[in-house]
Amino acid sequence: MTFPLNKLLRPHIATLTPYSSARDEYSGKEGIFLDANENPIGSITDKNFNRYPDPYQLTLKQKIADIKSVPAERIFLGNGSDEAIDLLFRAFCNPGKDNVIILPPTYGMYEVSAEINNIGIKRVNLTEDFHLKPEKILKAVDDLTKIIFICSPNNPSGNQMKKEAIIQVLEGFEGLVVVDEAYIDFSKEESFTQLLDEHHNLLVMQTFSKAWGLASLRLGMAFASKEIIQVLNRIKPPYNISGLTQDTVLAAIGQVDKMKAMVKEILEERDFLENSLKNLPLVEHVYPSDANFLLVKVGGARNIYKYLIEEKIIVRDRSKVVLCEDCLRITVGMRSENQALLEALDKYQDIR
Ligand SMILES: Cc1ncc(COP(=O)(O)O)c(C=O)c1O
Repeated sequence: MTFPLNKLLRPHIATLTPYSSARDEYSGKEGIFLDANENPIGSITDKNFNRYPDPYQLTLKQKIADIKSVPAERIFLGNGSDEAIDLLFRAFCNPGKDNVIILPPTYGMYEVSAEINNIGIKRVNLTEDFHLKPEKILKAVDDLTKIIFICSPNNPSGNQMKKEAIIQVLEGFEGLVVVDEAYIDFSKEESFTQLLDEHHNLLVMQTFSKAWGLASLRLGMAFASKEIIQVLNRIKPPYNISGLTQDTVLAAIGQVDKMKAMVKEILEERDFLENSLKNLPLVEHVYPSDANFLLVKVGGARNIYKYLIEEKIIVRDRSKVVLCEDCLRITVGMRSENQALLEALDKYQDIR
């Protein structure tokens, strides 16, 4: 299917003259820099942060390109994935007119970001076991539908969506399909980044917040065609990724083995937690997970959630979310933390 980018963009974005920063106009490294109204003396901190960072993060993107096998020009970096989500609404969706499709139960920011931008929301629920309904999704599309958000592995259910079902959506829709792979490093499946050449309407999101353990730095990635990435670069705030984040992630990427070792440990803990939870009588079901958390159906989720807070154990109560009645979402912790959770749940059964 063709992807008519210019037809899909909001008209004023297609013709926008972007802000031109000092570093856009001169990107050399040598010289006396009197162009960006920076502090020439230095910083009040031990390390100097007085100069603006690279607005396009080219060194970092090249390193990410190497590990992800995606060319640097097809990578956008945002202040967390959440920035990319917001920019997509601003680029493609006309407020008060266009709509997007979300697939509940799913990550809450798609809906919140749509509402902030005054964009219509169509909901096509997943199946009872949290898989896509491609025909229903495509049926929900109308002339004003701009984006379909697919979260895989899905938050809060934890499961990976079936590859063929995602491809069916990609092939049946003329607008943008966002595949949010925040948890892909915990999954056995291959990333959809490898299908970017075949599907021009595909945008894949990943993040350094989960497997890499860098949530506080705020670095999200979007992978798409060069043309879509150019649009995001034109509308983003000029210096959206701090120098500290760029430098720290650059150093972290060199330690991919350490990231893989952490993922291995978390997956072993996930198995331990899953098996142990299944042995507790108050646990009705533990949904299979391809992520670093488990969705767990219990008898009386709200009361258990409140009890766990009293025990200073904080999980996420998802029981009000569609298809997640009586479900808690539990992040896989360290062994001692998982043990503490299991002991608290065991105790709850006794005192109930
Ligand atoms: C599916 C999904 N996408 C994106 C994010 C946010 O990622 P980031 O920290 O990069 O903004 C989360 C955070 O929990 C998530 O669950």
